[in-house]
Amino acid sequence: MAEHSESGAKDQPQPGAAANTMWGGRFKAGPDAVMAAINASIGFDRRFYGEDIAGSRAHAAMLAARGIISEADGAAIDAGLAQILAEIESGEFVFSEALEDIHMNIEARLGEIAGEAAGRLHTGRSRNDQVATDCKLWVRKTIDATDAALAALMRALVAQAEAGAGMVMPGFTHLQTAQPVTWGHHMLAYVEMFNRDRGRFADCRARLNECPLGAAALAGTSFPIDRQMTASALGFERPAANSIDAVSDRDFVLEFLAAATICAGHLSRFAEELVIWSSVQFGFVRLSDRFTTGSSIMPQKRNPDAAELVRAKVGRIAGALVALVLVMKGLPLAFAKDMQEDKEPLFDAADSLALALAAMAGMVGDMAPDAGRLRAAAGSGFSTATDLADWLVRVLGMPFREAHRVTGRIVALAEAEGCDLAGLALDKMQAIEPGLTAAVHDVLSVEASAASRVSYGGTAPVRVREQVARWREELA
Ligand code: ARG
Repeated sequence: MAEHSESGAKDQPQPGAAANTMWGGRFKAGPDAVMAAINASIGFDRRFYGEDIAGSRAHAAMLAARGIISEADGAAIDAGLAQILAEIESGEFVFSEALEDIHMNIEARLGEIAGEAAGRLHTGRSRNDQVATDCKLWVRKTIDATDAALAALMRALVAQAEAGAGMVMPGFTHLQTAQPVTWGHHMLAYVEMFNRDRGRFADCRARLNECPLGAAALAGTSFPIDRQMTASALGFERPAANSIDAVSDRDFVLEFLAAATICAGHLSRFAEELVIWSSVQFGFVRLSDRFTTGSSIMPQKRNPDAAELVRAKVGRIAGALVALVLVMKGLPLAFAKDMQEDKEPLFDAADSLALALAAMAGMVGDMAPDAGRLRAAAGSGFSTATDLADWLVRVLGMPFREAHRVTGRIVALAEAEGCDLAGLALDKMQAIEPGLTAAVHDVLSVEASAASRVSYGGTAPVRVREQVARWREELA
């Protein structure tokens, strides 16, 4: 590096650095080593090889169909690209940093295989529309995989919900015992969240599905191309209508990252609950051996590492979103090399999300709630106090505010006596509210409390089972 920067004649050819064969016509010298290092994207954009080859095959077929290249050249290009695909997939393809990116690596190899025909492939297109197309195809494919992973996680949650539709547990607000709820209801809360995540990814997919190919560098092309043909060959709804826009926005990546961030946030909340619930102090749930680890020093430990890592992944996924928002901010139209910086955050976020979803689905599939611990905890902290207040309203016709006050005094009494509401003698309660009768005990158990919440969307087992049936159908 130092030698290069110290050399005075910067435009003289440097040893080992010939001008790029793809664009080097006007260059006397090859790039400085630092230039090559900062410029090259092959280290990461090789992941686009499948999309790049699919895009090139669609483009070549269109060029041949339109008579822009000969049928023979079109066929030679197609066969060469098929061979390259096989070479890459078998691991024999040699990637070169000097060729910068996946597009030029493939095109250079095509030249070796197909000779002059290869040089005709880049007619009427540019790397700018090429990379935008590759990236859209890759994001689209990744959205489909994410959708399947979310569906698998939701199915695991629905199975938990079905098994625990009537299992009572404490519901929390402020992480303080609030009211008894059912395990199934809590599981289905996450099903709703993950379903909205699927919706966000689907929205992103629908909006991105316009084909940039044929926008060329930025202005379109003078060749009589058929953009409809390439768009439909690649499964796009339509060609992008504005060539400048087509090569210069990465809003579809931002949308993907935003949806991924929200989804990772949901995963993070659930992961945090699993960490808390699997602690010895809570003991609400047992995570399987497959998704916990031991300590190298403390033999008794079962650490919820997978849950902790799922909890953490949102950090880098949100980081990827912020990184690309800042890359795109203030970029003048159309293409700028800044946009090459979209890929690493995209790949990292997509990989992280896929792993987090798989880990969560695995944990949920294996985890075993402890019905006894959940029930005992559900009854602690005077969790049926609201049921007592509701009884006073319903049976004695008391205004709710008044019932709230009376119940508060009864809770204070139970606390002083060291018992729960169901255990407080009737005469003691009657000393505070003479209208209370033995019938009140019907609403003070946690089971009765949960079963009474039959409003639509409520926690009663009967409502939970209905929702389980709905989700079973939707996820079938
Ligand atoms: N490697 C580039 C990218 O990732 C491809 C497009 C290059 N275009 C250009 N005009 N240099 O964005």
